[in-house]
Amino acid sequence: MSFKSDFPILKNKIRDYPITYLDSAASTQKPQAVINSITEFYQNSYENVHRGMNTLSIKATDTFERARENVRSFINANSTNEVIFTAGATDSINKIAQCLPQLLNEGDKIVITELEHHSNYLPWLQIAKKFQFDIEIVGVNENGNINEQDIVNACDDSTKFLALTHMSNVTGQIIDIKKIKENISKDILIAVDGCQSIAHINIDVQDLDCDFYSFSSHKLYGPSGIGVMFGKEILLEKLEPPSLGGGMINNVSLDGFTYAMLPNKFEAGTPPIEAVAGMNAAIEYLNRLNFSHYFEEEKKLRLTLINHFQNMDEIEFYGFHQDINASSIVSFNVKNKNYNDISTFLDQFGIMIRGGHHCCQPFMKKLQIPGSCRVSFGIYNDLNDIDLLVDALSKTIKLLQ
Ligand SMILES: Cc1ncc(COP(=O)(O)O)c(C=O)c1O
Repeated sequence: MSFKSDFPILKNKIRDYPITYLDSAASTQKPQAVINSITEFYQNSYENVHRGMNTLSIKATDTFERARENVRSFINANSTNEVIFTAGATDSINKIAQCLPQLLNEGDKIVITELEHHSNYLPWLQIAKKFQFDIEIVGVNENGNINEQDIVNACDDSTKFLALTHMSNVTGQIIDIKKIKENISKDILIAVDGCQSIAHINIDVQDLDCDFYSFSSHKLYGPSGIGVMFGKEILLEKLEPPSLGGGMINNVSLDGFTYAMLPNKFEAGTPPIEAVAGMNAAIEYLNRLNFSHYFEEEKKLRLTLINHFQNMDEIEFYGFHQDINASSIVSFNVKNKNYNDISTFLDQFGIMIRGGHHCCQPFMKKLQIPGSCRVSFGIYNDLNDIDLLVDALSKTIKLLQ
């Protein structure tokens, strides 16, 4: 089962080969429903939101707020006041980091891991340096996996904030946030980078009991330029927003201003309205598909590829262990070959993977590699794609011998 036919770009050919798209961890392709929704929105409903009383503005605002309710329900937030539209996960995480000095005091500790994407790494490093928070980076083990108990152990009395990826964009490892939360002090706030997990795990922010959860729409079959920062209402209520401007105030005078209610307080300026409409269409499309049924398929695809790799002497792959919960991503290298060369050769066969450090340089350094090839699956992939990849990879290895 795959949903390839819903994605028009995958009907194209590259050099007479059908496109085999295996780079969904970087960005997912868009179904026709999302593409149509943006055209339809521009043709029939476009106007700025929240500002006007004309018919188009009311229509656009209605779509915009319907999207917020759909996101709320998708991640099971308690209220739409907890769903803040941002420019993407990076923007969400930076917003949270900018708010951190309101929540922590000098000497308080932030815990992160060596697995983190630079977007869930640099904002914490910078804010910690600026405000003299301590920072502890929990290392991965020799397999390239994080041991959840190591994260729990790092949470001592001075720890006030934990920033964790929910799913590694290098190895696909899924971190059990709920279990970690249950084993640490209730006073520690948890910010989850859900950039990868949002498309591969059922997300229930209430069940996870996280304080913040960030993701980008472009990894969830929606448009780029739009993402979400979920925050518990009790926290967002008391935080001052990091960006100021139009749309987020209640009253402005020459000597001051008051904030609008949530969620508007955190949404300064004109948002990417058409991208919100597209994200809404992506969520409605995924709900129609009941796409969580596909999650087990993605795990099977990952294991099938790893089984192939285990039989290929030239391949070394990272972060695999049978006891580790993981999905949809496999990183590997062909021994003594450059990952960019491999990616470029595979592209000659219409196969699109990623080569690079995946914005995880500390993790790459730990693995003692400059980078890797990365294969990542989405709802349009099936076993045939793995056959095509393995066949093209075998030919590439022969060619490069
Ligand atoms: C785990 C993780 N976090 C954060 C990001 C940043 O996402 P964006 O570039 O959409 O802001 C990515 C993107 O690859 C990611 O994989």
